[in-house]
Amino acid sequence: MHLLEKYKQFLPINDNTPIFSLGEGNTPLVKSNNIYKEIGCKELYFKLEGCNPSGSFKDRGMVMAVSKAIEKGSKKIICASTGNTSASAAAFGAYCGLETIVLIPEGKIAIGKLSQAVAYGAKIVSINGNFDQALNLVKEISEQQKDIELVNSINPNRIHGQKTGAFEIVDELGYAPDEVFIPVGNAGNITAYWDGFKIYNDLNTSNLPKMIGFQAKNSAPIVNKKIIENPETVATAIRIGNPASWEFAEKALHESSGKIDAIDDDSIVEGYKIIASMEGIFAEPASCITVAGLYHLKKLGYDFSGKTIVCILTGNGLKDPDFANNYLNFQIHKMNPEFEELKNFLLS
Ligand code: F0G
Repeated sequence: MHLLEKYKQFLPINDNTPIFSLGEGNTPLVKSNNIYKEIGCKELYFKLEGCNPSGSFKDRGMVMAVSKAIEKGSKKIICASTGNTSASAAAFGAYCGLETIVLIPEGKIAIGKLSQAVAYGAKIVSINGNFDQALNLVKEISEQQKDIELVNSINPNRIHGQKTGAFEIVDELGYAPDEVFIPVGNAGNITAYWDGFKIYNDLNTSNLPKMIGFQAKNSAPIVNKKIIENPETVATAIRIGNPASWEFAEKALHESSGKIDAIDDDSIVEGYKIIASMEGIFAEPASCITVAGLYHLKKLGYDFSGKTIVCILTGNGLKDPDFANNYLNFQIHKMNPEFEELKNFLLS
């Protein structure tokens, strides 16, 4: 069943809200086969949001935001993006016949994401600045031009859609995990997940998890309690210095008795390699900050025993082939198409 259909009762859907789908949601919750032993928790799961149609969790929120935009009569949508929001907006824009405009920070978006926006036919504006500056610009233009709908996560419909990720986890496990590990950039997703868990909790269908957020060390405004003017990290998706949903993220952390921590780039790279090589899951660097976070907390002596943990792997590893090229050690044996040569190589 379509995401909007399935969770209709929890979403801002009325008789005039168009229901459609590109196949978003219903993503796999994969049980760890190896990492959980190293971490020493009871159970560890990975929510593969990279399996969404445009390859990231943004599709859950975008389907709702675009549906509400159409309900309002908008013909144009706009967003600022570190890559995934632009890919998702452009995909739904194409599907629904809307003009999509995306503002991206020059040179700081993964090639897979940029290719998607180009292929889906978005109007792309690259700014000589960062995501936070791009977001300010699209906010201003959408406030002035009422016919252009802003589809960043400050649009509450995005958050409504994204809370379905929490519903799916509880629907599948039968309960909420003890802890949810989640990357934090503009802080919309941590806000959305917490909303989702609270809704189920209010209905007595679920307990509440602790929200454990992670920011990249040099892009960690919430951890450091100050705006970062020039955020930097190899995880370009979360290269954000002034998150729009900062306050809501603080609230989620506080209400859930959770915590937020910063992870350095080397550890993010390590997490990226570990999740792929130990679990067969290729996730993009920003997502792998959660895996790095597991090891980071383990090193600090955090007690994982008896706990069930879910890591939200927000985007697909295929989005950022340059990262793979730069950080993986490609050891590929080259040879002629000769049987003896192959045998010698394999048996040596
Ligand atoms: N993971 C990935 C893969 C992302 O693309 C983002 C955000 C996040 C995590 C953080 O989520 O912003 O809700 O805290 N990407 C945005 C974009 C900013 O433009 O695609 P958040």
